[in-house]
Amino acid sequence: MGLDKKGMMKFGRMITIWVLAALFFLLSGCGVDTPFGSQTKTSVENHNHETIQELVAQGAGKTGLIRIGLLADSHQNYKGLEEAIDRLNTQNLDFVIHLGDFTNIGLNVEFDAFVRTMGQLRHPYVVLIGNHDAIGAGIPMYRKIFGEFNTSFSYAGRKIVLYNSNSLEFQKVEGFDPQWAAQELASATEPTYLFQHVNYDNKTHFTDAESADFEAMMLAAPDLRFALNGHLHAGTQRNLGSIRLATIPRSEGGQYAILELDPAKDSLSFCEGSRCQEVSVGPGSGF
Ligand SMILES: [Fe+2]
Repeated sequence: MGLDKKGMMKFGRMITIWVLAALFFLLSGCGVDTPFGSQTKTSVENHNHETIQELVAQGAGKTGLIRIGLLADSHQNYKGLEEAIDRLNTQNLDFVIHLGDFTNIGLNVEFDAFVRTMGQLRHPYVVLIGNHDAIGAGIPMYRKIFGEFNTSFSYAGRKIVLYNSNSLEFQKVEGFDPQWAAQELASATEPTYLFQHVNYDNKTHFTDAESADFEAMMLAAPDLRFALNGHLHAGTQRNLGSIRLATIPRSEGGQYAILELDPAKDSLSFCEGSRCQEVSVGPGSGF
């Protein structure tokens, strides 16, 4: 039996309603943004700034040993990052620093997955931006979620400097500022610890002259103890005068590092799972 004209119109209206409902469901359920956009699901904003405020208060008046957990280059290896977090959670730590490259290509879904995974960490943490995190919409997403690209703070009588060394990715965006680093190091009145993603002598990111200038700036700093970077994935350490330079190993296989700041002697250990080994002072690889 066929539909009359009235029935056809009613049927047409129902089809229209169903199509609009399906479109609404698809757009609201899956998100109107693409993985390449800057729309994130996390409600976290200005994370580093908020955490640093808490750390400054926490470190005030503290004396004795300071223990800092270090993570780097987790990229999309969330399993390795979770393994490292599980281990860090068993340790007595003041805070944790991730030295950047917590994504592969700066996707919003990667930012969300990283924030979600780091939520398992029982210690306060701050994050540096890595070159991979600065791809696409990564720079504005980092700015919104984590805050300033360069920042420093005092913790229990030590100066912690978090420096954005991604020279290539910040050519057209404000945020790569070696002069800021020079000022921070030169004006330090406390033992100083410099953290950056790309190593200052990286041939892809810096000319020989730029590396030499940065090296001279570090050597001229009143009391720079450590300059630590990620980016190279394999843990290494060497000395520059009295300054210890080290690459923090990537999270692959649950790797991380522990920096101990002791009034008598600082030490750095590279760890994999439950196994930690202090990196010896002197040139060469430590682990
Ligand atoms: Fe990197």
